[in-house]
Amino acid sequence: MLRYGFAVFFVGIMAVAASHTRTSAADDPVTFSKHVLPILQKNCQSCHRPGQMAPMSLVSYRDARPWARSMKAKVESRQMPPWFADPAHGPFANDRSLSQKDIETIAKWADSGATEGDPKDAPAPVNWPADGWQIKPDVIVRGPEFRVPARTKNDVVEWITYLIPSGFTKDTWITSLEIKPSVLEVTHHICFTFVAHRPDAKYYVPNWSESDRDDEGVAIGGGNPPARQAVGGRSGPGRQPGADVGGGFNCFVPGRDADDYRKFNAGKLIPAGTDISIQVHYTPNGKETVDRPLIGFTVADKPPAKRWMSYGIVGGGPDFAIPPNEPNYKSPPFDLTFTADVELVEFMPHMHVRGKSMTYHLVYPDGRDQIVLSVPKYDFNWQLLYQPAKTIRVPKGTRMYVEAYYDNSRANRHNPNPERTVHLGRMTWEEMMAPFFGVLIDANVDPNQVIRLGRFAAIGDGA
Ligand code: HEC
Repeated sequence: MLRYGFAVFFVGIMAVAASHTRTSAADDPVTFSKHVLPILQKNCQSCHRPGQMAPMSLVSYRDARPWARSMKAKVESRQMPPWFADPAHGPFANDRSLSQKDIETIAKWADSGATEGDPKDAPAPVNWPADGWQIKPDVIVRGPEFRVPARTKNDVVEWITYLIPSGFTKDTWITSLEIKPSVLEVTHHICFTFVAHRPDAKYYVPNWSESDRDDEGVAIGGGNPPARQAVGGRSGPGRQPGADVGGGFNCFVPGRDADDYRKFNAGKLIPAGTDISIQVHYTPNGKETVDRPLIGFTVADKPPAKRWMSYGIVGGGPDFAIPPNEPNYKSPPFDLTFTADVELVEFMPHMHVRGKSMTYHLVYPDGRDQIVLSVPKYDFNWQLLYQPAKTIRVPKGTRMYVEAYYDNSRANRHNPNPERTVHLGRMTWEEMMAPFFGVLIDANVDPNQVIRLGRFAAIGDGA
């Protein structure tokens, strides 16, 4: 609020100053073409263009003009662009947040008539890939078609898994990867791993298990906590990762960028003839729709220098239980040890609607404890990736632990019911403690010997 008030005050002074210097050269009006468009290209158009997740395009003057006041309000309050990492533990390569100067430019433009200026001042349009892709895929694999009903009981659609052929007939290095749903509004997530082909493989056949659920759609029965499953199912608690054969766990969640390993001279090696095990989770939105997801890859002719591994490990463990009305529940810890030298390249905190904050720590072999990502105000609507500006070198023997807090009080406006105890589960009204991350390893390191999972052992606060 203070910042907002100050900005208004500042703009007021500028307006007064400007009115007295109308004839001087310093009176360079803020225009769309010259000052605002470069900011939108760099920080906004990745989402605000046709076919992407944002509700309106900010590509041309005509697109953007009606939103001038709203843009000012959203950038001044720092709701746009969405970015939640505490800058004290950065910097990040993909940080889209605006500088104070850029915020002031947009505010001044909105306050001074939101003019276009001379189109000749405009930078060349960004050459975005066609058909809504973020990458320009060399190979496109058809995902399973799924009819999402308009409504179901409590809006539950269970997670569904399909096997589909990858189409790779020889060992292939993929250098970027994108999962592209056709109906973003109903897609909660789509994740997949590469798995070895089995002769009895049946392609595009849905597989799911119906959980018994109570009146609010919360899974019941079958152990404590009930229906506790890993996102993705392959690398859950107690299971050592590595059952997949192609660099780990790949996901689409709303807001997440495509995976691009090229800037790190890295890739994932996909063995010939491998199948894809893909899992989809949809949320009905009142209108029957059919989603036809596609998976796109770019491929390399020669092996890149490094291998990329993505981990979808979940924490929390059997004791995870948020009491009713608890505003600051601390999850049992997540912890693992790196058994090879790695470089950390990205983080993606994932929790559900009661998620409040998440912090990733490294404890180096010399005992030093370093925070590598802190998201102090988690927002379930934004599943963002955070990529450190420089990869973080992690020597063998380093431990990683992650702390997550949850708000099950009435003050959490996304909370569907503060009166109940919340366990881990698959639906957004159940919870999840999933600190996803990606690492680079040298090509000669065995990808199955990179991490050892902890047993959710309690870690002291001072660790
Ligand atoms: C990661 C994707 C993403 C980026 C980057 C992004 N936006 Fe958005 N924006 C969205 C989505 C999705 C919505 C709609 C949901 C919401 O309002 O939270 C939205 C909403 C908005 C709205 C409100 C629209 C309304 O209906 O009232 C404005 C204004 C806006 N964005 C401006 C910007 C500007 C300006 C930038 C860059 C400085 C930007 N956004 C960057 C995804 C993004």
